[in-house]
Amino acid sequence: MLQHFFNPSSVAVVGASQNPAKIGYDILNNIVRYGYSGDVYPINPTAKEILGYQAYPDLASVPSKIDVAVVAVPAGKVMDVLEQCGKKKVDSVVIITAGFKETGPQGARLEQELVTRSRELGIRVVGPNCLGIIDTASTLNASFAAGMPLAGHIGFFSQSGAMCVAILDWALGENVGFSRFVSLGNKMDISETEIMLSMGQDENTRVILGYLESIEDGPRFMKAARQVSKTKPIIIIKSGTTSAGAKAASSHTGALAGSDHAYRAAFKQSGIIRAESMRALFGYAMAFASQPLPRGPSLAIITNSGGPGILAADACDRSSLHLVPTKKETADRLREFLPPSASVYNPIDIIGDASHERYQKTLEVVLNDDLIHTILILLTPTAAVDAEAVARGIVSLAKDADKPIITVFMGERGVRGARKILQDHAIPSYDYPEDSITALDAMLSYRRWREKPERQYRHFEADTRRVREIFASVVKQHRHDLIESEAREILKAYRFRLPESRIAKTTKGAVRTASEIGYPVVMKIASPDVLHKSDMGGVRVGIENEAMVEEAFFDITSNIQLRQPEARILGVMVQEMVPQGKEVILGITRDMQFGPMIMFGLGGIYVEVLKDVAFRIAPLSVESADAMIRDIRSFPLLRGVRGEPPADIDAIRDALLRLSQMAIDFPEIIEADINPLLVRPEGLGAVAVDSRITIQE
Ligand code: COA
Repeated sequence: MLQHFFNPSSVAVVGASQNPAKIGYDILNNIVRYGYSGDVYPINPTAKEILGYQAYPDLASVPSKIDVAVVAVPAGKVMDVLEQCGKKKVDSVVIITAGFKETGPQGARLEQELVTRSRELGIRVVGPNCLGIIDTASTLNASFAAGMPLAGHIGFFSQSGAMCVAILDWALGENVGFSRFVSLGNKMDISETEIMLSMGQDENTRVILGYLESIEDGPRFMKAARQVSKTKPIIIIKSGTTSAGAKAASSHTGALAGSDHAYRAAFKQSGIIRAESMRALFGYAMAFASQPLPRGPSLAIITNSGGPGILAADACDRSSLHLVPTKKETADRLREFLPPSASVYNPIDIIGDASHERYQKTLEVVLNDDLIHTILILLTPTAAVDAEAVARGIVSLAKDADKPIITVFMGERGVRGARKILQDHAIPSYDYPEDSITALDAMLSYRRWREKPERQYRHFEADTRRVREIFASVVKQHRHDLIESEAREILKAYRFRLPESRIAKTTKGAVRTASEIGYPVVMKIASPDVLHKSDMGGVRVGIENEAMVEEAFFDITSNIQLRQPEARILGVMVQEMVPQGKEVILGITRDMQFGPMIMFGLGGIYVEVLKDVAFRIAPLSVESADAMIRDIRSFPLLRGVRGEPPADIDAIRDALLRLSQMAIDFPEIIEADINPLLVRPEGLGAVAVDSRITIQE
């Protein structure tokens, strides 16, 4: 897949120049300098030779086949080069040139023309507006980056060229090896999804890192990520998560950033590890690329000082790792050589006068404890310790270790040399305990993702024909919002449980209906124009008798006439009053990049004030529905507090899955709420008390 880009037999640089101040020079120079062993063809209208290679005036003049063309000519000339590629049957092109979509409508038009033409010609394109590509296995550096990473196992793709440069510089500084670098640029053709899939298949890539501002085709990206993440970790930093960030992102590459809720959900559902900062990205990359995944959650901390040990223990407490006490045999063996004031439990504090031998012996013992899955070694540079000797000791023991070992050597001057030794031998070394714990936590949750069984989906019977009829009639009336009775019909078609309910047009009718349904009842305004019924004085609950029905009918209709005089009033809905339960809210929204999203939260203040909600992209699997219910902070309230019976969680899951199916069946639903869904105690189900549905034509 995309093989020509990463393992080409020949490369042409169109716009290669003899002038070292030009990008076309840098690209050719990188190709030559870092030892690319295939054929190289500089293309330049006038030069005869550049950097010792024979130059050609155009692609047609090159006597042999060309696998990849790297293009660095001004924007106005790119189309002509593309035509030349078509004639020469070059099927893989990297366009470095800027001046397209990112500059505004005119550039976007130019880019669109390139898209159309490249498709006609069957040419695959990386870029435009990119830094280029690097593949260390084929020693190809077809970019104008300053440097070449060491060969290694991290594949990196980035929507920002600058981020490529920054990562490359970090990699060079820290001796971290990479398999591939791909600067995606404007992604006119090849997107993050294809690059991710190709890295998934690349045997040199073990960890995939990405920097993204937007995603082109959300559902396709999720499908690919789900597949790739089952064998290789995918770590992504996504910028543009705040509204200010999103603005910066869209002016950067002309991309439309999806809402952060959608990204969060999509990443969770496809096993992507999200790095919240560059620091986390580097931290995760180090750990994932060099260490085995932890077999389980238990972590041992070995430290020569109390403070950092406690900081690490605190961070551990906030993570899914466990600081279990060392088992008796381990504690006994440690006691044999540790001073009496040392702590043989966990954190294992080998105290301030610890020498490198003490570190070494302790690590040896802990490595043999099969109940410990991961080891974190902390060191502060005391006068008693030779930090470099400790580092060498760790390196020698880590060689045969089957569990992750990571280190935090705190300080700077006293630990610089030791850190270098660790880095050179692929032992992750962090500046602070918290960062190391976050990285280990990410590794553990990734392992759990890998071990998760196949997701299950459920299909429910639904009267989709009825739904279609209702939507058709709403569209015919040029409306977008369904009135409550219509929304109820839709939910009924998906077999939601609803309170019994009928519209009464007169006070008398309301009294008759109430007695048929049985007291107590609820009364609500029936109007296509009143969306927030309670706020408008359009709802009365706990109506116990005829007199109250009459009064409520009068109050509700006059409130609406007064507060929203233009609203059409179809009557008043008389509804069964559902017995007490927990109020939750379920909803559908639609994200530009990922499509329908399902929302869940506890109703009332929990959703309005605390914004305690969870999102997932539809279709929901049974596992995702369960996970989103448990994701909200107020979940313990559903499980029951202070002797309350637990709410019927199965009924919530059932409702979420039905809603998800509805969102997938009817893409015209752009928004829907079931608010509240009244959840009865376990075994008694849930009732959709009120709902809103908005469709687009
Ligand atoms: N075929 C082959 N060579 C051609 C050509 C063609 N059709 N048209 C022009 N050239 C040659 C030029 O003669 C020149 O070579 P020379 O120095 O020997 O004269 C070379 O290609 C470059 O053309 P030039 O007009 O000098 O452009 P430039 O080097 O100033 O700029 C780009 C070209 C692509 C670098 C520039 O347009 C650009 O896009 N810069 C921004 C790149 C960027 O930031 N990308 C995103 C990074 S994240």
